[in-house]
Amino acid sequence: MTRIVVVGSINMDLVTLAPRFPAPGETLTADHFLTVHGGKGANQAVAAARLGAQVALIGALGDDAFGGQLRLGLTDEGIDLEHVRSIDNCASGTASITVAQGDNHILVVPAANARVTPEQVEHAKSLIERADAVLVQMEIPLETVEATVRLGHQLGVPVILNPAPAQPLSPEWLKLARYVTPNQHELATLLDADSSEDFRALMRRAPCPVVLTRGDEGAWYSEDGEPMHQRGFHVDVVDTTGAGDTFNAALAVFLHEGLAIAVKKACAAAALSVSRLGAQGGMPRLYEVEALLEQQP
Ligand code: RIB
Repeated sequence: MTRIVVVGSINMDLVTLAPRFPAPGETLTADHFLTVHGGKGANQAVAAARLGAQVALIGALGDDAFGGQLRLGLTDEGIDLEHVRSIDNCASGTASITVAQGDNHILVVPAANARVTPEQVEHAKSLIERADAVLVQMEIPLETVEATVRLGHQLGVPVILNPAPAQPLSPEWLKLARYVTPNQHELATLLDADSSEDFRALMRRAPCPVVLTRGDEGAWYSEDGEPMHQRGFHVDVVDTTGAGDTFNAALAVFLHEGLAIAVKKACAAAALSVSRLGAQGGMPRLYEVEALLEQQP
């Protein structure tokens, strides 16, 4: 069984379904409100578990009601939470999400996620050492992201860095990641470059291999220095929240089958995730990915 370690955020997503996005200063009546489990770290952990991997998560929760509910949800998915600490007198992370017209707007309050430390990652060294791949995103402190990338490199375990939400990163440690998985806007931010620059030129400039996501157009990656394109899969879009998380999880789970196959399966899994509501709500099981690959080979 593939072993995946995820270092990242855990949020309660407060989701409002609206007919359209309100303009600044405007009050709009929306259709529906729901709370669903999210956070990029937790989402990637759940997606990897549903795809058949053995998953451990390193993160933090508050001691509020959301913290208890989120812990229970992750336990139900079979995720090892030994390295998820509960912090006293602290709120759990939240994300206020508006879904409208097939797109979303997200406001994240990190709360406990801001207290995921490099020491926690170091403490999980023996777990990371046994992993087939490590996934990390940027909703936790940057020093913890850096410590994860450095430790994975030191132990010879591939680290996939999903640079979301994006900010410029030092090439000195970014080069130690096995893959970085931005969208076009995130890649430009990461390299402190102009976002109008051709993404293939930006990919060549990055200090580590890039797997670039392009929404329904699929993904780009490099093989022997040549840019390669994997087309997207056709589905009816309900909610795009968590599509990137599903993509990253699948990439990590299937990486041992080779990059081209992993990217193809990641595109299929991400497509399925947008066909249902909620970040974790849409994440597919392995048999669903296999069925889509058969339908749209
Ligand atoms: O990637 C989607 C996630 O981003 C949501 O679940 C939300 O929690 C935000 O962190």
